[in-house]
Amino acid sequence: MAKKKTLFECQSCGFQSPRWMGKCTSCNEWESMIELSTEQIRYLKETSRSSTHSTPKAKPITQIKEDDIIRFASGSKELDLVLGGGIVPGSLTLIGGSPGVGKSTLLLKIAGNLAKKEKKILYVSGEESSGQIKLRANRLDANHNSLYLLSEINLSSVLSEINNQNYELIVIDSIQTLYSEETPSAPGSVTQVRTITFDLMRIAKSLHIPIFIIGHITKDGSIAGPRVLEHMVDTVLYFEGDTNSDLRLLRGFKNRFGATNEVGIFEMNKEGLNDAKSMAGKFFNKEKLQSGSALTVIMEGSRPIIIEVQALVSESYGHAKRSSTGFDNNRLGMLLALLEKKLDLPLGTYDVFINISGGIKINDPSADLAVIAAILSSYKNRELSAKTLFLGEVSLTGEIREISSLAQRLKEIQTQGFTKAVIPNKPIEKTTVKCFIADEVSKVVEWM
Ligand SMILES: Nc1ncnc2c1ncn2[C@@H]1O[C@H](COP(=O)(O)OP(=O)(O)OP(=O)(O)O)[C@@H](O)[C@H]1O
Ligand SMILES: [Mg+2]
Repeated sequence: MAKKKTLFECQSCGFQSPRWMGKCTSCNEWESMIELSTEQIRYLKETSRSSTHSTPKAKPITQIKEDDIIRFASGSKELDLVLGGGIVPGSLTLIGGSPGVGKSTLLLKIAGNLAKKEKKILYVSGEESSGQIKLRANRLDANHNSLYLLSEINLSSVLSEINNQNYELIVIDSIQTLYSEETPSAPGSVTQVRTITFDLMRIAKSLHIPIFIIGHITKDGSIAGPRVLEHMVDTVLYFEGDTNSDLRLLRGFKNRFGATNEVGIFEMNKEGLNDAKSMAGKFFNKEKLQSGSALTVIMEGSRPIIIEVQALVSESYGHAKRSSTGFDNNRLGMLLALLEKKLDLPLGTYDVFINISGGIKINDPSADLAVIAAILSSYKNRELSAKTLFLGEVSLTGEIREISSLAQRLKEIQTQGFTKAVIPNKPIEKTTVKCFIADEVSKVVEWM
């Protein structure tokens, strides 16, 4: 016969035991244990079972309703493009970039644009005083009643300001200057930056407010840069550009709400960073090319941009140097090895420097052919025609490979008034640009 289950409960502290005890072992009360009835035991079992039911359970994906993402425009078409169509409420966006590139300028301008449309915006600065920001706001036409400034470095003060007001967008300038008292390390350290980002993420998600965080990058990476946060935030954008030129590129690096291949192009002027109206002629010299310069057209997201590749090949005194700005150094090494092998050029005794004008960093392999043309032009000290563009990816075997979006690139070449292009394969669509086919590195020389 099955033994009847018994359960005793302390009337004083609620401690339960299967055996009767004269004194409760939990609260030391004498004679407080009473036996529970069968109904009471069954009720306890049911409530404990239902409490396990309330813990989240996995569901088939077909039964799940997707989140509605209602984006809103930032007032800058270029920023909206990079974000994938506008700002997503509750999203955390990190904008990184080197000093002076224009991070604060861009975000203050966006804050101003939105405040103009009566959105309540908070701009938190740990780097500059409110007076300094006001000065910039005057220049950017961002003086509007619903833009609030907070010059503060203490995270708990920033969080309580966010909690107490109904802001619709928040800018943090910058993450490295904020300080959380709960973490003992110094502002800007990896632990601080992580803790602060985590708290900001929680508040963004719970209050459904978009937050933009500015982060500094250092060249040597010794200080905690935004790179440690990249996995924590929803979107990571990087500002690129030569501070000597007016153009700035905002590149998507990660985006949980859209594609990352789009690039925003801005122009820096005294009214701040504005959407670039036209990229035509901004990245190259239209009139005449010096020896060592070659033109190509790269795709930045969905847009073709004509750029100038500059090369300097000079006799080396000692160990031959190879250095490139805006172009991958390893790829440069590969192209030089190919030129030595296929064209018998003694480049091992020459220093080679490559620069992409306008501060652009090339990720598109279609610029390989232009790099080769620029190197040859500098080596032979012969100018290339300012009307010819070079397009093609070069393989390790010296073959020139087909490139993507050829028709779109040729259209841009035609629109900008160029007449000739050296390309890897015949264009499918009709074009007025005279095309020369170069399917091998050695053929490039014929078109120079
Ligand atoms: N009066 C002005 N007219 C035109 N351009 C200006 C003017 N004042 C500043 N700038 C430009 O703005 C840039 C500084 O921008 P900003 O302060 O937004 O950069 P940042 O990326 O926030 O820099 P930091 O890392 O120091 O915070 C300067 O490098 C300069 O090119
Ligand atoms: Mg700044």
